[in-house]
Amino acid sequence: SFSTIRAVEILDSRGNPTLSVTAHLREGTVVYAGVPSGASTGTREAVELRDHDAARFGGRGVFRAVAHVNGPIADALTGRVFDTLADVDAVMIQLDGTADKSRLGANAIVGVSIAAARAFAAAHALPLWRSLVPDGVQPRLPVPHFNVLNGGRHAPNALDFQEFMIAPLGAPSMAEAVRAVAEIYSALRSSLEQRNLATGLGDEGGFAPEVAWPEEVLTLLVHAITKAGYTPGVDGVAIALDPAASEFHTHGAYEVAGQRITSADMISRYEDLVDEFPIWSIEDGLGEGDLDGWKQLTATLGDRIQIVGDDNFVTNPAIITDAIAAGVGNAALIKVNQIGTVTETLQALKICRDAGYAAMISHRSGETDDTFIADLAVASGCGQIKSGAPARGERVAKYNRLIEIADANVRLPYGLSA
Ligand code: PGA
Ligand code: ZN
Repeated sequence: SFSTIRAVEILDSRGNPTLSVTAHLREGTVVYAGVPSGASTGTREAVELRDHDAARFGGRGVFRAVAHVNGPIADALTGRVFDTLADVDAVMIQLDGTADKSRLGANAIVGVSIAAARAFAAAHALPLWRSLVPDGVQPRLPVPHFNVLNGGRHAPNALDFQEFMIAPLGAPSMAEAVRAVAEIYSALRSSLEQRNLATGLGDEGGFAPEVAWPEEVLTLLVHAITKAGYTPGVDGVAIALDPAASEFHTHGAYEVAGQRITSADMISRYEDLVDEFPIWSIEDGLGEGDLDGWKQLTATLGDRIQIVGDDNFVTNPAIITDAIAAGVGNAALIKVNQIGTVTETLQALKICRDAGYAAMISHRSGETDDTFIADLAVASGCGQIKSGAPARGERVAKYNRLIEIADANVRLPYGLSA
């Protein structure tokens, strides 16, 4: 059981306030969690509680969420014996009492939930990932999806698509997957320099050059993959996109590189991109409110590539259940802070598994050094993770954790399951 639980306001990777949680267990163990924070958020995400006190951090302070951990949550949890993480999370969900965790704040609750997950692993003397493996699931080392070129809300350039990711699907191991992308990232930097394009980094560590056309970026990526000595495609190194289209979907149209186009135009644009480039996965290709478009996109491309819901699914078990029934997408992005507890995140993953939907574990654009998602990805067996570029400490920390898990557990399989 917990003897103390304490949160403090720290900075995330963008320099915005977030929380860390440190808890002491009776047995003497100390567990920690750092809370991530998104920029291109879905409207139905659990509520990230901010102070809205303009005198501090432009209103983004998290003193209220910190006080909720140190007051009511700590009071409810310390000194009690819990058998499972689900029991801990249930107490916090009940204490909050709202459907969207807006009273205590999802940022407060998720920090304690992640720390509690580590507490149970420590209590059972298990590595974190092993303590999270659901019954009947084969844990796997996930294919890392490295976001090497940033646009949208994550960079100040003219690029509307948010994320261009490199996915070493055909790598023989975790370490070789990371090596491949680090080499490709380096080749990409050289290509940008040769073209006199800037090599400064966006929020997730990808380059953020002044390019506007997705096609131009994809050409650069294929070139970098080849130049680094790898084979573009699903047997080698593939590409994944997260346009985060909710951010440029306004008044019923999509605004890409200064042009306003319809939902149907977007879908045929994606068809062309998939024909021309080794793209294996598209996340948030359309806006979260464009339900008919989503169904059409899934019907058009769902047999050829992975269609991932993020802003529209928000890791919410009930919403994902409805989306599956409606034929929206064939995969879900999974972010612990979108729903606010580890237990509900595991439920969302189970719903995907049971329905034959794929799942990809994800960081947020605002991160800390916490590597929880690396363990979660291995435990879930989903075979996919995205954690930004092979650069910036808060991104690399997750990939490094995966390399270390792989090294300590040589029999864990790498990659997507068949
Ligand atoms: P966010 O972006 O963390 O800023 O929401 C990540 C994503 O859209 O997947
Ligand atoms: Zn996304």
